[in-house]
Amino acid sequence: MNDEIKESFEKTKIAGSIAAGALDEVSKIIKPGISTNKIDKICYEFINDNQAYSAPLYYRGFPKSCCTSTNHIVCHGIPSEKKILRDGDIVNVDVTAVKDGWHGDTSRTFKVGEVSIRAQKLVDTTYEAMMKAIKIVKDGVHLGDIGNLIQNHVEAQGFSVVQDFCGHGIGQAFHKEPNVLHYGEKGTGEKIKTGMIFTIEPMINAGNYETRVLNDGWTAVTKDKNLSAQFEHTIGVTKDGYEIFTKSKNIEKIL
Ligand code: MF3
Ligand code: CO
Ligand code: CO
Repeated sequence: MNDEIKESFEKTKIAGSIAAGALDEVSKIIKPGISTNKIDKICYEFINDNQAYSAPLYYRGFPKSCCTSTNHIVCHGIPSEKKILRDGDIVNVDVTAVKDGWHGDTSRTFKVGEVSIRAQKLVDTTYEAMMKAIKIVKDGVHLGDIGNLIQNHVEAQGFSVVQDFCGHGIGQAFHKEPNVLHYGEKGTGEKIKTGMIFTIEPMINAGNYETRVLNDGWTAVTKDKNLSAQFEHTIGVTKDGYEIFTKSKNIEKIL
């Protein structure tokens, strides 16, 4: 690995650890009765306390420091004082920290109180699909191999892969090439190379894959109002594998 790649990996890891740390803080306060605005506040403060800033805040007019996507919200849910978490909800919290110009982007889906067996299975399957895909990453793998693996894993459980949103290259920009689709055919698409940094962030629906965006211009929901879950890591490609930059330092058990 050349010095340029080494530096980009080190810097992304610092930003990624801050984003993961924010989610660790959020995990401590998730319970029925809290508002999604409370989650936003925790993220905002944690990121600021670490001398970083939140990439979503004011990004294309987005008003908050993280996205909070409950139940049938697929992604880009806007935190609000009015949205109170209830027992049985699932909520994805998506955080992107910027430190020293470099971005770290990660999300987890949390369970609020006791959730249904179906919701549990959806969350587990989504996490497994992301981790399975990460584990095949190395120099020379096709992007289509990643998408195909996620799609196969998810569809085997009777769930569907969202097609309207994808993973993305990341670095000194929040979103850059390539698009990382979470479905596709083996052996297709660009070959990934040592030094590339991108996210894998499958959004998985319990019902149909189709989504639509609400009138606020942000909140994406499932058309059929069934549940949707998501996890996201920012990773770097090496000759023989990968490095995850958004791992939790404190929490072993994500699910
Ligand atoms: N963090 C999201 C992603 O994974 C992007 C959120 S953009 C926002 O790419 F403006 F909605 F915050
Ligand atoms: Co992302
Ligand atoms: Co994200």
